[in-house]
Amino acid sequence: MDIVVLAGGISAERDVSLKTGAMVAGALRGNGHRVILLDVFMGYRGEPEKISELFADSSHAGITETEISETAPDLAAVKAARGDTSDCFFGPEVLRICRMADIVFMALHGEDGENGKVQAAFDLLGIRYTGSGYFGSALAMNKEVSKVFFTKNNIPVPNGIHMTKYTREDAFEKTGLTLPCIVKPCCGGSSIGVSIVRKEAEFAQALTEAFRWEDEIVIEDYIEGRDFSVGVLDKKALPVIEIAPLEGFYDYKNKYKAGCAVETCPAKLPEDIAAKMMRYAEAAAEALCLESYSRMDFKLAEDGSIYCLEANTLPGMTATSLLPQEAQAAGMNYAQLCEKIIQVSLQRYGGQK
Ligand SMILES: Nc1ncnc2c1ncn2[C@@H]1O[C@H](COP(=O)(O)OP(=O)(O)O)[C@@H](O)[C@H]1O
Ligand SMILES: [Mg+2]
Repeated sequence: MDIVVLAGGISAERDVSLKTGAMVAGALRGNGHRVILLDVFMGYRGEPEKISELFADSSHAGITETEISETAPDLAAVKAARGDTSDCFFGPEVLRICRMADIVFMALHGEDGENGKVQAAFDLLGIRYTGSGYFGSALAMNKEVSKVFFTKNNIPVPNGIHMTKYTREDAFEKTGLTLPCIVKPCCGGSSIGVSIVRKEAEFAQALTEAFRWEDEIVIEDYIEGRDFSVGVLDKKALPVIEIAPLEGFYDYKNKYKAGCAVETCPAKLPEDIAAKMMRYAEAAAEALCLESYSRMDFKLAEDGSIYCLEANTLPGMTATSLLPQEAQAAGMNYAQLCEKIIQVSLQRYGGQK
């Protein structure tokens, strides 16, 4: 098949996406596909007359693999680097090249790649893509909306409230919550802008940090306990993975810097708890209309209660990311996982092109 792997963009998770994209493109090439790895924002930088032969000689459109730094990328610098003043999310020739593909592998993370907008545009343009459709993507992107859907489907979530820049209230006692609590941007990912508040005096600073990224935030009970994640592929849960940061909580650095967290899959858990978490993950994917694949994050409190924190519609796909590790524990290697994602996603369009 002719496949475009779409990565990059201008979200805070740009670097992670580029890494995912490079890995996926390599694996799909190894599976015998003709693959173009394209930065959705920077677009095609080669000669226009080469576009029609791009799949035959896919080295032309390659973007180089970048390392993920310990902090979020400088997006203003990325925007300046494109060298035009257009505010179009899609870089030069991106849509044209995507329309030439049998399917687009969505290696985007964060905001515009994951919130359903690109998916909706692709639907209208007749471009096939991997992962969830626009509606599920939009629901899952918003942590507050996700929690409403989870609760309605009997999936437990942390107790909490929602605040906007316009309803900002710095006095902690007005929230009706107890300490410790967690403050996080409503739609962001990769733990960017997330703070744990243990003392009332820290609350206003945590709000300011979260509002730096978004106008909407979520404040919820801090669940003391272990971190887990469960991937759902083709409606079935993969084995549970545990993530144990060596220091602090599961923040940006602990997520992407090698050696900062111990990841165990299958997680060491009593069978009934693991089974329950997997059931919740499948129910969460269904509740949010997520298709093909997704990954749900959970906390397990010391008393054995499980809480679903959020759903990720385009989970990380670097070799060391959680979903590939879960697939591996289920007997599926990285290349097989990429292939399976393509096949499952094509089902939405009635099977292989
Ligand atoms: N209510 C909570 N209680 C305890 N820890 C939390 C809570 N919400 C988030 N966290 C921690 O912060 C991390 C990131 O939060 P999450 O809701 O998964 O957002 P994202 O991954 O999109 O940034 C989680 O993996 C977890 O370690
Ligand atoms: Mg998460």
